[in-house]
Amino acid sequence: MDTDKATEETTAAWVVNPVGPLKGDVVVRGSKNAVTKHLVASMLADRPSTVSNCPDIGDVDITISMLEAVGCEVERDDTAVTVNPRTLNSSRVPIRFSGMNRIPILMVGPLLHRVGEAFVPLVGGDDIGSRPIDYHVDALTKMGAEINLTEEGLEAKAIRLRGAHIELPYPSVGATESVLLTAVLAEGRTVLDGGATEPEVIELALFLQRMGARIELRPNRRYIIDGVDELSGASHHLAGDRIEAFSYLVAGLITGGEVRVQGCKQDRLVTAISTLSGMGAKFEITDSSVSAWADSLSPTAVETDTHPGFMTDWQSPMVALFTQCDGLSVMYETVYENRFTYVPALNKMGAEIETYSTPLGTIEQQQRFVGSSTPCSVIVRGQAPLRGTDVVVPDIRGGFAYVLAAAAAEGTTTITGTHHLDRGYNRPIENFEALGLDIKRIEVPAPPPED
Ligand code: EPU
Repeated sequence: MDTDKATEETTAAWVVNPVGPLKGDVVVRGSKNAVTKHLVASMLADRPSTVSNCPDIGDVDITISMLEAVGCEVERDDTAVTVNPRTLNSSRVPIRFSGMNRIPILMVGPLLHRVGEAFVPLVGGDDIGSRPIDYHVDALTKMGAEINLTEEGLEAKAIRLRGAHIELPYPSVGATESVLLTAVLAEGRTVLDGGATEPEVIELALFLQRMGARIELRPNRRYIIDGVDELSGASHHLAGDRIEAFSYLVAGLITGGEVRVQGCKQDRLVTAISTLSGMGAKFEITDSSVSAWADSLSPTAVETDTHPGFMTDWQSPMVALFTQCDGLSVMYETVYENRFTYVPALNKMGAEIETYSTPLGTIEQQQRFVGSSTPCSVIVRGQAPLRGTDVVVPDIRGGFAYVLAAAAAEGTTTITGTHHLDRGYNRPIENFEALGLDIKRIEVPAPPPED
């Protein structure tokens, strides 16, 4: 019977029971936002490349499936992924990958180099703003690609890509990576001005250099890339994920405990450490680990920015932490125009967070957000007692903030929509369990579909 079938529909949920201070060690692996780009770079070579210290996350599975769909052979061995690009024989990333993550757009340059044409489905990723691809399209067009945007995705053709002078209106991580992945095999010199310098972008540039690319990073966000005729395979051990590292340090601080993060070096966390220490956190930093604890934390004002500023992906854990600081804290988001969708659920848990569509910070509001009515700032009144409840994850980073809040709350929190978290966190349940948290993955009845 149909009704029986309907009641059988379930969805994954994480159930969190707070236990007090979280203490212990977490080892982070390579970052979600670097691993996938390295796998794409492997498409450009004439021999296999191996990327190790890969996280066990959905985005790696999705990217591997896309590479296999265009004909690459991929092998996995523990944390290493080896991509053999020699068998690449298709220009089309199938439509079934539409909306899954931001990676297909980065495959356009490599596919054009390898097969002269490309189709990629519309890019996806978290719903944290309109996330257009105009910078990618403009850059690829300047380098000689003919691009056609259709209902389903992006079609491109190029007989020979050539170097160009490209100026990004904003230092976009993805667009910088698109340019790097395309310019390395293009004919002649590409000068990229206004490029992103996030550690994950630099890590990709170094990997490409290891493959034989000629890339220079000059002051003032300028990259100079001289195209070469061919690239060979390379190996790389990914550096630790700074988003996870920060988030677990906050897990210790928000519960009054102490977490030691291994696998992510201090230089990736400079602004995180200086911001937290300004609030009163204490640190022990070694060559291989960072631990944080605090007797008490004072409120502060933070604005997100491009590197080396306070990164947007640290924003939601920090707002969760603000709920437990005594006084008024301010967060101003300048990278994405819609990154506070997690706030209502934190308020449902007892937080006192007010949203504002005026910039509460010093960074000029981005021209591309003018006219947007979504909030760009919040004021958080702490310390608010949090209580467990049922919450639904809106996006990957917002979802992690729920787990942090749940760990600091009274009572049980049930978190659904956890597929967002599975896409980007390496074994989070195991990591939280190692810190002492009572957290379980269960199946719960799925909510009825929306009209
Ligand atoms: N933008 C445009 N046009 C474009 C490209 C970007 O207007 O063609 C705008 C975006 O809308 C945004 C800003 O530029 O307002 C910055 O976007 P960027 O291109 O830098 O972001 P991304 O490459 O799509 C990556 C990470 C994000 C991270 C940002 C910023 C990946 C897969 N994603 O996104 O990570 O927040 O850089 O550092 O690398 C996450 O992991 O949760 C996440 C969202």
